Amino acid sequence: MEKARMASIEKGVGEVLVSREEIDEAVARIGKAVTEDFQGEDLVVIGILKGAVAFMADLMQAIDLPLEIDFMAVSSYGTSTTSTGEVRILKDLECTVEGRSVLIVEDIIDTGITLSYLSKVMESRGAKRVSIAALLTKPARRERAVQVDYVGYEVEDKFVVGYGIDYAEKYRNLPYVGALKPSEYEK
Ligand code: HPA
Ligand code: MG
Repeated sequence: MEKARMASIEKGVGEVLVSREEIDEAVARIGKAVTEDFQGEDLVVIGILKGAVAFMADLMQAIDLPLEIDFMAVSSYGTSTTSTGEVRILKDLECTVEGRSVLIVEDIIDTGITLSYLSKVMESRGAKRVSIAALLTKPARRERAVQVDYVGYEVEDKFVVGYGIDYAEKYRNLPYVGALKPSEYEK
């Protein structure tokens, strides 16, 4: 990527947490595991917009099985101190999941509220099996127990951006995951 452009994006990024090489390694590792685990199943891979877009695009190419893709967008209410656990569907699936095997693809799992809600939605719609793949997990922030079947990396409780993950809708186009400088969100 053009140097000047990267420099302008990176002004707010203090450190690289997951390098491009580490992302590629995680994508290959998870893709291989999913390929082994979903042999012979009617697989639908569901990306959660917008954060999962980069991971979804790479991961689906690393899964060597027939599959369909679809997307959902959700918003969760409540701040970190007053999590209501309320989740609203902004964009729903186009496909049916009834009787099918679902793999939900997320960028990062922190409180677990969105994922525990989405798992329940898939089950209530009659999915045969619901699994979760997340590039990142931040266990320090967990409020709901969720079983994450495939994890790229565990990260510390820092505000991360890049590879789909935003701060105020920016930074999604960084090709790696970085930690935002506290000066960026404190100002
Ligand atoms: N960065 C951006 N979005 C997030 C994060 C984060 O660290 N955790 C949960 N959503
Ligand atoms: Mg966001």
